[in-house]
Amino acid sequence: MPEQAAGQGSGYVTESSDSTPSGAARKRIVVGVGGGIAAYKSCSVIRAFTESGHHVRVIPTASALEFVGKATFEALSGNPVHTGVFTDVPQVPHVRLGQEADLVVIVPATADLMARSVVGRADDLLTATLLTARCPVMFVPAMHTEMWEHPATVANVATLRARGATVIEPASGRLTGKDAGPGRLPEPDEIVGLASLLLERPDALRRDLEGRRILVSAGGTREPLDPVRFLGNRSSGKQGYALARLAVQRGAQVTLVSGYTAGLADPAAVDMVHVRTADDMQVAVAKNAPGVEVVIMAAAVADFRPSTSAASKIKKGAGEPDAITLTKNEDILAGLVQSRRHGEIPSSTVIVGFAAETGDAEGDVLTYARAKLLRKGCDLLVVNAVGEGKAFEVDHNDGWLLGSDGSESALEHGSKALMASRVLDAVGELIRIR
Ligand SMILES: Cc1cc2nc3c(=O)[nH]c(=O)nc-3n(C[C@H](O)[C@H](O)[C@H](O)COP(=O)(O)O)c2cc1C
Repeated sequence: MPEQAAGQGSGYVTESSDSTPSGAARKRIVVGVGGGIAAYKSCSVIRAFTESGHHVRVIPTASALEFVGKATFEALSGNPVHTGVFTDVPQVPHVRLGQEADLVVIVPATADLMARSVVGRADDLLTATLLTARCPVMFVPAMHTEMWEHPATVANVATLRARGATVIEPASGRLTGKDAGPGRLPEPDEIVGLASLLLERPDALRRDLEGRRILVSAGGTREPLDPVRFLGNRSSGKQGYALARLAVQRGAQVTLVSGYTAGLADPAAVDMVHVRTADDMQVAVAKNAPGVEVVIMAAAVADFRPSTSAASKIKKGAGEPDAITLTKNEDILAGLVQSRRHGEIPSSTVIVGFAAETGDAEGDVLTYARAKLLRKGCDLLVVNAVGEGKAFEVDHNDGWLLGSDGSESALEHGSKALMASRVLDAVGELIRIR
């Protein structure tokens, strides 16, 4: 879509600060806001898009303005805000905003708004925009569990998905009142991450893993030395969480066994198992693996633990230890492959490992990774070169995907969400041929 300067008929204001992306990276995003209690969370989403340099037009429904004022949306987006089709008529916004958009995100999508969209109503600016948009459209529903599970809503969601729209799985948790259940809006960061992925790969949230059962491990383990200290590692959990988040939105039932992370929120609609040590993680993975079709071991599991863990804090002075002796932890990935070989988990289970490697005088990263794939016996190995600010703690990643069939492909540099989508593509291929 060509860039248009402000004042040339575009519905968007185009100025932005120096730190923002330019050219193709700057997208035109319509944020539709439905009249639900979660409408206030759309403000964080709008802000994240504008701070990333995108052009944002907010189109609330009349009900949405009962929850958040028009001035807030105008100030956050830097653009005028209307609900009806009879404002600014010479600019024909009811046609142009949809036609010009690179992405439409509806947050929150109410039951009513999805129903109106399914029947093709165009009685306000937002529904008219939904009819004219030819870009990816992402509905982020939020409503009470009863509304979400009602056959009418279930059918509407299926229809929207069948027409090519993305409908995000809601989170479970506290709803408007005291009740809890599925229907909660995912966290704004999660919405922005999924929307950004759609901008990069319009088919990234297709439902090709519908009904598949996937176990993902993520984060780092902590091996206690005493009640205060531990041996840990720099894993942020971001890659594993990106995999779990995306697998759910591609239709899978996901269990995420998580060690410690950089304060990441639980992804929407994922069954969480929180663990502390490598031993805990081994137990949780062994318990859940027999019931799944795919295990993705993205966690940074400690290879060693202190041989003893003191019951009280180790003090300085007399009796202080000279050294820490270490004991090897069980290799969870290799153990899974053994279990598959011995029939303790189904022979069709797809097992994916992660390797963080550095090269040295003896060999480069890929040489070590190939040897690791052979040693572990898993089906796929995702390889990251670590060091120099790469892989750990950062939001971007790159690497290689090695298959036990000898296949090798480069994973180009991109967001961890993009990496996750490439890995799930490969996983999807393997499931299909098993
Ligand atoms: C306090 C309050 C909270 C509401 N929260 C929701 C909600 O979370 N999800 C939803 O689908 N409807 C919710 N509704 C109902 C919608 O506001 C109603 O269906 C309205 O017609 C939606 O209009 P819209 O889809 O055009 O925005 C709520 C209503 C009230 C009064």
